[in-house]
Amino acid sequence: MNSRPLFTEAASADVVLAALGADTDPRLRRVLTSLVTHLHAFVKEVGLTDDEWQAGIGFLTATGQKCDAVRQEFILLSDVLGVSMLVETINHRAVREATEQTVLGPFHVVESPPRGLGDTIDLVGKGEPCLVTGSVRDTDGIPVPDASVDVWQADADGFYDVQRPGEIPERNLRGLFRTDHEGRFWFRTVVPRHYPIPVDGPVGDLLRATGRHPYRPAHIHFIVEAAGFEGLTTHIFDRDDPYLGSDAVFGVKESLIRAFEHVDDPERATALGLPNPFREVRFDCVLRPGGERAA
Ligand code: BEZ
Ligand code: FE
Repeated sequence: MNSRPLFTEAASADVVLAALGADTDPRLRRVLTSLVTHLHAFVKEVGLTDDEWQAGIGFLTATGQKCDAVRQEFILLSDVLGVSMLVETINHRAVREATEQTVLGPFHVVESPPRGLGDTIDLVGKGEPCLVTGSVRDTDGIPVPDASVDVWQADADGFYDVQRPGEIPERNLRGLFRTDHEGRFWFRTVVPRHYPIPVDGPVGDLLRATGRHPYRPAHIHFIVEAAGFEGLTTHIFDRDDPYLGSDAVFGVKESLIRAFEHVDDPERATALGLPNPFREVRFDCVLRPGGERAA
């Protein structure tokens, strides 16, 4: 008989790890070894009771049961525990002047409609009109023409289209643009509002139990992609938002905060097809080399 050391409190993690087969994939072995070691240390450190273990199992079960094709409660749990941002941060450490990334979030669930530069993504006409201008460059400052710039955002009431089907037109505040020959993009929209992450599941229970609010500061999401570069998934945040310092999912990075300036310029407004006054925000992003055509 193939014998292993018997289970003891002192050697608990080692006993479990001794059960791993010799042909276990090396990376899986590395990850599991660390996970089991930390899990056992955690149980011992807090002196986990039977009831607490049961409650933890119940919480994870409810988290799984809340998931479906469009709702991912486990990712939301990872978000509010700061794990999503940690994974994102260690895998995309700041490089020279390359634009920083942040969480994708759960609302990029439909394809953005292709739009021309200068088009509006606002299909409703409620809220403060806003012009977004920007550029895509490489780390040497060279413009990147024909980059795809996928944008999506919440409306002036803090809702994405997919949260109010039948009430908000499909694809409202979503657009897929391509940069011009000088790497520039611009489009019309409305100023987004802060909003609560979904709180009708176990993650909401966790936030309430720990005295945390569910709000994300107002932001506009971007995925910028171009051949020969790493894709960039990020947001820009409104500098004046009250939740900037307490994002429920820890997504704010200093370099992503922008001023949504107030503009009062009737001639410019007419030329752009915007009512006057309007707001204006600029986002110049820098892609890092990588992807298919990387040197
Ligand atoms: C979002 O910005 O869309 C988002 C990100 C993480 C959790 C919930 C929402
Ligand atoms: Fe969002």
